[in-house]
Amino acid sequence: MSRPRVIVTRRLPAPVEAALSERFDAVLNPDDVPLSRQDLAAAMRDADAVLCTVGDRIDAEVIGAAPRARLLANFAVGYNHIDIRAAQAAGVVVTNTPGVLTDATADLALTLLLMVARRAAEGERLVRSGAWNGWAPTQLLGAQVTGKTLGIIGMGRIGKAMAARCCHGLRMRIVHYNRSRVTEPGVPCRQLPTVEDVLREADFVSIHCPGGEENRGLISAERLALMKPTAYLINTARGDVVDEDALIEALENRRIAGAGLDVYADEPRVPEALRALDNVVLLPHLGSATRETREAMGMKAFENLVAFFEGREPPDRVV
Ligand code: DGY
Repeated sequence: MSRPRVIVTRRLPAPVEAALSERFDAVLNPDDVPLSRQDLAAAMRDADAVLCTVGDRIDAEVIGAAPRARLLANFAVGYNHIDIRAAQAAGVVVTNTPGVLTDATADLALTLLLMVARRAAEGERLVRSGAWNGWAPTQLLGAQVTGKTLGIIGMGRIGKAMAARCCHGLRMRIVHYNRSRVTEPGVPCRQLPTVEDVLREADFVSIHCPGGEENRGLISAERLALMKPTAYLINTARGDVVDEDALIEALENRRIAGAGLDVYADEPRVPEALRALDNVVLLPHLGSATRETREAMGMKAFENLVAFFEGREPPDRVV
């Protein structure tokens, strides 16, 4: 019996590629060249499944180019780069990789929070430039983090993991907004009725809700205006949750103190105006980028593929 053909859009950790090649007719991308829309559509023409990543825009047209494909195994927990309705309409199953990237992503959110509050990137740039001329009592003063209030938008797995780190490690008070009632937040905290309440109260706001239609522009100009001028915004979720132009304006005018960003509205494009600012820390979507996590994500995608082609329900089915 012929093995299902699986198109793998990017280079994956070696053990994942080995597992895929052993079990499937896997078409790998050894040079890790991002596929253009045309190449992606062409590659999908004779695919039974596609293992895709957040860098691939899987829209209705691309899905339409894959008449045989029955499964999109997404190498990520977030799937706002996939047109879920088009997949559903075409009868294509979509899976993701929840759970395994919780700690890595929360670690990175905390990294950004500390970096931006303590001006670590500015300090690093100063040392590297050779212009540092020694310790000074008023040099690069940042904001104290310990004991401050963290506001979490989206108290799912990653939001809770961030809350735990900040509560236990930094003795922060935690407030959060979540659409549904959170019964087991894992740490002492207060669930506030609205996003606005969190923005008004927090010294640090960390975003952990999904991107896509439901939350696009959630952190709007009006809402940014509610934040304290001393507050910081951290985003490791999805760029489209924040109105990027409004954020740039708030940062330029010091309406808020700073931001730590790992995600952008139109990746990999990062607006020049954002790159020009000192009060932001900018990372290239590294939330899940540890060796352990990326391997675990790959194995999860693999397990979903295996389950599907063995006729079982894939464990992480989205639709
Ligand atoms: C995800 O899984 O959604 C991340 O953004 C990719 O690391």
